[in-house]
Amino acid sequence: MNLQQLYKVELHQHLDCSLSYEVVTAIDPTVTHEASLRDYIAPSKCTNLADFLTRAVKGFALMQTKAQLRLVVHDLFKQLAADNTLYAEIRFAPLQHLDKGLTPYEVVDAVEKATADAVKGTGIEARLILCTLRHFTEEQSLETVKLVEQFKDTYVAGFDIAGNEAGYTIDAHISAFKYAKEHNIFCTAHAGEAKGPESVWETLKHFGPSRIGHGVRSIEDEKLVAHLRTNNIHLEICPTCNVQINIYETFRDHSIDKLYRSGVSLSINTDARTITNTNLNLEYQRLEKEFGWTAADFYACNVNALKAAFIPEALKAKLLKKLHYNYKTVSNI
Ligand code: ADE
Ligand code: ZN
Repeated sequence: MNLQQLYKVELHQHLDCSLSYEVVTAIDPTVTHEASLRDYIAPSKCTNLADFLTRAVKGFALMQTKAQLRLVVHDLFKQLAADNTLYAEIRFAPLQHLDKGLTPYEVVDAVEKATADAVKGTGIEARLILCTLRHFTEEQSLETVKLVEQFKDTYVAGFDIAGNEAGYTIDAHISAFKYAKEHNIFCTAHAGEAKGPESVWETLKHFGPSRIGHGVRSIEDEKLVAHLRTNNIHLEICPTCNVQINIYETFRDHSIDKLYRSGVSLSINTDARTITNTNLNLEYQRLEKEFGWTAADFYACNVNALKAAFIPEALKAKLLKKLHYNYKTVSNI
């Protein structure tokens, strides 16, 4: 099967962790290929999430002006086109791009305008998710969620919490998710990655997201798996990244196949294209090789991804039609 030709829907990728070598050198021509391999890409096996996240700082440093942000957005759309992406949600933490004097509003505005241009230029539909981070204060989290509200009716569509799940409690962020709920802002949250099912339960209870970033350790709690299924909570799964941060020894040990077969709504994502040195074509190839996934399985995941997307129902219907036509034509599902 030619996996590249299949349309793909990606809900979970970090803009600041997805810079190609091409854009890295466009912004900083002194970075050699060797240095990029050493500093931007993590080893295929990290100690844990905290170890993995140490590689992300290099990307932030190259995204501190409007021109740099613009270059990075267009670079990511090139990568999305290579994966034959139909729809993408792209996330970043605006407060990490203030080092050269941009205001948080200017950061979001620059990324939003570049996204609007890239959507028009490539025909790939997309939305943006603004992230707070686990180590941020309550004020920083509130400032981030208020930016989502300020950018309502633009390409900004939702709110997320990323960062080191194992290193910080959720307490500082409860008020930001409360604000999101009060303002009907779509929410997702990283959980069940560096911590177990108790972290997913806690996140669902206190943040109330419709989706969970990763959530793969939910498999350790049957009741949680049933809860996700019954309440249609979608898991944004990033298989290779999960192996890299050492949740699973190998790709074959990953819980994605079991979660999928137990009827949980889930999607296939990259998370961090640079740090993990991956793309969606590779993720699909590994799922085919290790679990025997077929076009019908990829189609089912992409349908669920679109259903869980942070977009209006009319746009979902339009994209679902395009997805169906593509899979019928390319794979004869
Ligand atoms: N930021 C980038 N990748 C991440 C991950 N896998 N978990 C939490 N925060 C992240
Ligand atoms: Zn992530």
